Amino acid sequence: MKSTKNYYITTPIYYVNDVPHIGHAYTTIAADIMARYQRLNGREVFFLTGTDEHGQKIENTAAENGETPIELADRVVVRFQELWKVLNISNSDFIRTTEQRHKSAVNEIYRKILEKGDIYLGEYEGWYNVGEESFITGTQLEEINKLPEDKRPKIDKIKEQSYFFRLSDYQDRLLQFYKENPGFISPKNRLNEVVSFVDGGLRDLSISRTTFSWGIPVPDNPEHVLYVWFDALTNYLTACGYPDNKAEFENTWPPDLHLVGKDILRFHAVYWPAFLMSAGLPLPKKVFAHGWWTVDGEKMSKSLGNVVDPYQVADEFGVDVFRYFLMREIPFGQDGDYSNTSLVNRINGELANGLGNLVSRTLGMIEKYFNSKIPTPSEFDEIDKEIEKKALHTAEKVGREIENIEYSKALTTIWEFIGDVNKYVDDMQPWTLAKDGETERLSTVLWVLAESIRVINILISPFMPKTSTLIFEKINPENKTGEVTKFNDSKKWGLIKPGTSINKGDNLFNRIQ
Ligand code: MSP
Repeated sequence: MKSTKNYYITTPIYYVNDVPHIGHAYTTIAADIMARYQRLNGREVFFLTGTDEHGQKIENTAAENGETPIELADRVVVRFQELWKVLNISNSDFIRTTEQRHKSAVNEIYRKILEKGDIYLGEYEGWYNVGEESFITGTQLEEINKLPEDKRPKIDKIKEQSYFFRLSDYQDRLLQFYKENPGFISPKNRLNEVVSFVDGGLRDLSISRTTFSWGIPVPDNPEHVLYVWFDALTNYLTACGYPDNKAEFENTWPPDLHLVGKDILRFHAVYWPAFLMSAGLPLPKKVFAHGWWTVDGEKMSKSLGNVVDPYQVADEFGVDVFRYFLMREIPFGQDGDYSNTSLVNRINGELANGLGNLVSRTLGMIEKYFNSKIPTPSEFDEIDKEIEKKALHTAEKVGREIENIEYSKALTTIWEFIGDVNKYVDDMQPWTLAKDGETERLSTVLWVLAESIRVINILISPFMPKTSTLIFEKINPENKTGEVTKFNDSKKWGLIKPGTSINKGDNLFNRIQ
């Protein structure tokens, strides 16, 4: 039995036919935030990401480049792995579907489903979208045909022998499952979409192909390779020891959260639970589908040349600025637009003027008036107690919002508090207290400010780990752990110790002209 202490979170595994872009960074950063948050709550987190390296699309791209599929995968996988380092992604494992451990897992789940009697040999006749690696349903074909010719995805007519999974047998069980577990699919509107799709009737799913060879062979019939989604979804089992490492598997499975983009929700919320039901395995607790980014109002595409390169944004503006912007700009779950103007506005307004200014002026005053030591507070006034109350309220609220994957809301809540604390500085005018020799009152105000920064720093740490470490080192330079370790410490008031040395150091964020 999996202990409640263990938490398992995944990102999709990314196709290696393309280098990483903002969409990939988005899902991965979102997962990283949850992983960090859960760790700060004392959970043992297994955080998985990786690459999807099989399938027709990869085979075609490699051929176009004049390389073998594995050469393509070996070249591109590094781009993902390096990007995750740059973006401070704290994944516990990185899976590639071309690894041996993955072949074993795919073989095993295939056998389990076969033993259950859910696989049969038949013939597939219909259309296939190679770009999306998906078989096309009647309604999808109608929709594609309605599009202007230059907007239609490339689809292939195929007719080949194929193994099928008896998906149609799972319609009722899936509907029942969604009903009994309304939290399984989020946000709510996505749940409704999936339910009406399943309600509309499920056809058996083709799970093998014969017209190309870059994939995992079907056990017992190597003329066929397994459908890339059957292969890819299984990665979530592979990485936690399935099937051979039973102890590890039982400690980790099932996933607490699959984070995916809305385009691949159906694979995760319909096919995947059906495969797992058939194989007799427990189902994931939740699948959350986020929205899509456009860029300056346009769909991001190579042909338009507007693909946002995460390396470049992180390099130009800073990793945490990028992480902050992606999570703050649009409510997680909805679509939104990326623009440099909006990014720059948030940097100047919320980061440099909001958080940056609060930290630098507070520490500047402690440096100047108290020789860089946090002063001892004396009596607290109503207005100080008001800040304490707001801090505690903010911490509780942010915790709830992160748990509900409402990242943009959580950041808004934190920044409201930053605004309140900045206003407190303006109202208290510590510089006037200093001039008037009101040392006791000045001590109290600066202590309240330092304590507020301590709380804020915990709250931002899942989102902006590097900034959080910088702030930690400024307000607590003698503590060698160098980082926030407990989320719950944000829900306490009074932990910052008078007498602690601070180190003002450089500004956290630079304003951009
Ligand atoms: N290989 C499959 C996933 C298999 S998971 C078992 C795949 N890979 S992908 O590389 O094409 O895309 C991965 C993720 O990137 C998806 O969650 C997708 O939603 C996300 N994004 C791709 N473009 C995006 C935007 N423009 N905006 C936001 N996310 C987008 O699908």
